[in-house]
Amino acid sequence: MDKIVIHGGRPLYGRVSISGAKNAALPLIAATLLTPGWHTLHNVPDLRDTRTMLRLLEILGARWQRQGSTVRINTDQLTGVEAPYELVKTMRASVLVLGPLLARLKTARVSLPGGCAIGARPINYHLSGFEQLGIRTSLREGYVEARVEEQLSGGTVYFDKPSVTGTENLLMASVFAQGETVIKNAAREPEVGNLIEMLETMGAVITGKGSDRLTVSGVGELCPAEATIIPDRIETGTYLMAVAAAGGEVEITDCIPAHLPALTEKLQACGVEIGVRDSGFTVRCPLNQGLACPLESVDVTTLPYPGFPTDLQAQFMALMALGSGASVIHETIFENRFMHVAELERMGANIKIDGAAAIVRGVGRSGLSGAQVMATDLRASASLVIAALASRGVTEVSRIYHLERGYEKMVEKLAALGADIKRIPEA
Ligand code: EPZ
Repeated sequence: MDKIVIHGGRPLYGRVSISGAKNAALPLIAATLLTPGWHTLHNVPDLRDTRTMLRLLEILGARWQRQGSTVRINTDQLTGVEAPYELVKTMRASVLVLGPLLARLKTARVSLPGGCAIGARPINYHLSGFEQLGIRTSLREGYVEARVEEQLSGGTVYFDKPSVTGTENLLMASVFAQGETVIKNAAREPEVGNLIEMLETMGAVITGKGSDRLTVSGVGELCPAEATIIPDRIETGTYLMAVAAAGGEVEITDCIPAHLPALTEKLQACGVEIGVRDSGFTVRCPLNQGLACPLESVDVTTLPYPGFPTDLQAQFMALMALGSGASVIHETIFENRFMHVAELERMGANIKIDGAAAIVRGVGRSGLSGAQVMATDLRASASLVIAALASRGVTEVSRIYHLERGYEKMVEKLAALGADIKRIPEA
């Protein structure tokens, strides 16, 4: 396994281009299962997780080829309906093949994903939603076995909590259902909107995009897709906070500022200078006698979109560790998303967990020092990189395969901005 070594204390300057969104690419790749033919997806990030999803489609009988950031997928011959445990345990988003397999082949067998570092991550909302469409599901030997009883018929689905992949699975499962399917308390994340746009180009009839109430009118068939993955708002937010932590001035291009309303507000409240353009941000934290501008400590509560994203919580905590006061960070989406706290404390952060809240007492711009730390999950690893960029001395981040699930070329992108960062084999 490799590790990342960062010599902290260097400001970032220049420009960085944002890749396609992991959490849009995964459902859009899965949606190509809905109908045979050659599908074309543009701006697909080359990540561990997108490679895993493409591998899963191969197991199901699809073929694919990548040319740069364009991936072409052929789903003429589906030879299987099973997503095996060995693969699903590495990426829970594999459950996204349930919806399209049930829509097209009326049956599917997918390993239960099991928990992960950040929480139990059940899929009960997905399964109860399927039941409303005439799908019978049962759990056997750790697998979800699902099949359409007689026919897929539209129904009303209500999510107790807005579930991103739950909404995406139900959208895909219902495109051929007889009549109308209404999804209430649907997730409003931009990645759901990207999937809706792709399904519409294929011939699906969906209303309510961007709202918490979606209506799908079943159609007889769909045609192959050509779609473009939206920019990754979580990658964008991660780089905004990397510059806020390290100091400097960076232009972030090929992104959609409108997808980050909450983070933009919070960073401006911290005293970070944020400029918004059509397809990008400028972020500026000038240095004074070698230190970046003091950071105001600001409270944050994670919420479903358009609230503050849970996927940026760990990164924001690293930033608040450098703050000039106390910040309360309340994580309301996942029950165990503070794995990064212990590692940040090893770098000198002062953080106290109290249930679903973490009280971060900032140690100031020069309060963190490098250490050997371990990545525990995707966004926690990004948090450690941000802290390392702002720390005095050297930080080694191990288990960086977590990072590579969701960030394309992060080491190269940060090095191009002036960071002293290297990836080296772990002895
Ligand atoms: C998606 O996960 C994202 N993953 C996550 O990003 C993200 O953190 C999460 O949405 C929340 O925004 C992808 O899109 C591939 P949920 P998902 O269903 O769909 C509970 C990253 O770092 N719930 O919206 O699995 C659940 O426990 C990853 O890129 C149920 O109880 O999340 C959580 O408390 C991490 N039963 C809440 O709902 C269900 O059936 C929201 O989860 C489904 C969800």
